[in-house]
Amino acid sequence: MPMLPASHDAIEAAGERLRAGRLVAFPTETVYGLGADATQGRAVAAIFEAKGRPRFNPLIVHVADLLAAERMAVFDARARTLATAFWPGPLTLVLPRRPEAGISDLATAGLDTIAVRVPAHPLALSLLAAAGRPIAAPSANRSGHVSPTTAAHVAADLGAQDILILDGGPTGIGVESTVLDVSDAEPVLLRPGGVTAEAIERVLGTRLGRRLHDDTRPASPGQLASHYAPRARVRLQAVSVVPGEALLAFGPDPPPAPGAFVNLSPSADLKEAAANLFAALRVLDASGAAVIAVMPIPETGLGEAINDRLRRAAAKR
Ligand code: TXA
Ligand code: MG
Repeated sequence: MPMLPASHDAIEAAGERLRAGRLVAFPTETVYGLGADATQGRAVAAIFEAKGRPRFNPLIVHVADLLAAERMAVFDARARTLATAFWPGPLTLVLPRRPEAGISDLATAGLDTIAVRVPAHPLALSLLAAAGRPIAAPSANRSGHVSPTTAAHVAADLGAQDILILDGGPTGIGVESTVLDVSDAEPVLLRPGGVTAEAIERVLGTRLGRRLHDDTRPASPGQLASHYAPRARVRLQAVSVVPGEALLAFGPDPPPAPGAFVNLSPSADLKEAAANLFAALRVLDASGAAVIAVMPIPETGLGEAINDRLRRAAAKR
């Protein structure tokens, strides 16, 4: 489990490693990803093994630009508008896939669609350039755990695996990309994330459909209700705290907390809260508290993604 600060040489070595079919964890603007060359089935299989991820759950393929994305997915005018508006950035588009593009069937879990995005992190873009291949990358955590926003989080979850970790410091956005299905007539939000639903609706000039919670047969298996789970039980909409509980606070007036305490944003800034969310869950979980009590967070803007992750963390396992 070598961990390297992201120098030019480290990025070149990581690109080499990807081409050799091995795994590299790297920062994106959202969370750290666990990357493999998306064209090599064996390499992609190693991602599923390292994470303990069910194979029916497809991966996001990361590419350097729209041109590269158009080689593996069929873009209509609407998809191109979205890519132009939000790439590079935290928007993943689910589109009809081009089977001739050579992307491993395992990456798309055998679906006739593919999830693609152009990440905005300079290190991710340098790695894509160094590898010269599309990179399949889920979040670099053990399946079902909280996503990593630092290299140390990756090491804590996957440190025992044969993975090169590129350390680029903490990620800026802190929640995963928004997953939007534009493979059909109606655009459907599968996962709220770093680009707000409102921003997408403004660009498209239409309302988004939502298909967020379908446990029986998830179209986007990140929808599995028990995803993003800390060990502790999570109690939502808490207005007070009882002994034995840790407090995940939001805003200027948290209730008194007898135990472990993190405020996601004392100024009630949703951007700051998103950036702090996963690290805060890890810290409170490590405090040993049986329950993490979570204060109410507004459902607007990035609040939709934050509350989505918190509801999953609170869902029964
Ligand atoms: O911010 C992010 O998106 C991070 C960074 C590393 O890019 N990646 C990430 O990947 O969160 P992952 O695998 O943890 O989440 C990808 C989501 C999953 O919910 C998966 O089911 C969904 O995208 N997905 C992938 N391909 C899909 C497809 N063809 N149709 C529907 N959902 C798909
Ligand atoms: Mg994930």
